[in-house]
Amino acid sequence: MYVVGELNSDAPIGVFDSGVGGISVLKHIHAILPHEDLLYCADSSYAPYGNKSPEFICERAIYLADFLIERNAKALVVACNTATAAAVSTLRNNYQIPIIGMEPAVKPAVAITKTGVIGVLATSGTLKSAQFAALLEHYGHHVTVVTQACYGLVEAIEHGELDAASTTQLLKQYLEPLLLAGADTIVLGCTHYPFVSASIQKIVGESVALIDTGSAVAKQLQKRLYDKALLQSPELNGQVSFWTNSDSAHAEVVISQLWGHSVQVENF
Ligand code: DGL
Repeated sequence: MYVVGELNSDAPIGVFDSGVGGISVLKHIHAILPHEDLLYCADSSYAPYGNKSPEFICERAIYLADFLIERNAKALVVACNTATAAAVSTLRNNYQIPIIGMEPAVKPAVAITKTGVIGVLATSGTLKSAQFAALLEHYGHHVTVVTQACYGLVEAIEHGELDAASTTQLLKQYLEPLLLAGADTIVLGCTHYPFVSASIQKIVGESVALIDTGSAVAKQLQKRLYDKALLQSPELNGQVSFWTNSDSAHAEVVISQLWGHSVQVENF
């Protein structure tokens, strides 16, 4: 057990993902907690996690958590569905700080579907996990759940190819079975996918609802910090720092595009 000293509300919040996908969650966090300092780690040298073993992902998650806690993180957000499934319980056993994970939004999708068919787009790692099986067991009884692993999509987004013809082609290929099955609600079960949600919506049409968990994760983080009196004082402006272990010049271009304005990216 890593024993953390007295937690401090001035300390930053650590957020990580296999790559740039977790920035979709970071945006929701920054929107509701603008006073907080945020540290974001993109483990892009090891992306995608979707085809790696749970043991490997767990090792990476521990490495990233150590890195963020050494920089004084008062809470961790695992902004990755695949890493949450593989590693969140190990992280919670190892570290005594609030740790927020995420899982595909099956429960809210089941609550709003009218056709009784929901689609889940996620990595093969998430879809094969025991956690996802448990999620379906709990909430998926009265509906048909069509799952689709989206090979190649994370890589395209890591390269910043959001609007490339090849990315649109991949999306069409992965969405077709969901539409044929009659899905009226599609869960974006990987944090990279919200960055192509406009293209997804165009392909599936406005009548199909897309659900992403980024905003729910940000609210959960806010609640956990509030409960522990760890929210930063509201008169401060939070700083956001980005770290990557891949080429930082390339990462700067892609992360600036995804974040919405030019940012600097450091190597770790
Ligand atoms: N962004 C991640 C997720 O939410 C992982 C994608 C990957 O690296 O395969 O699942």
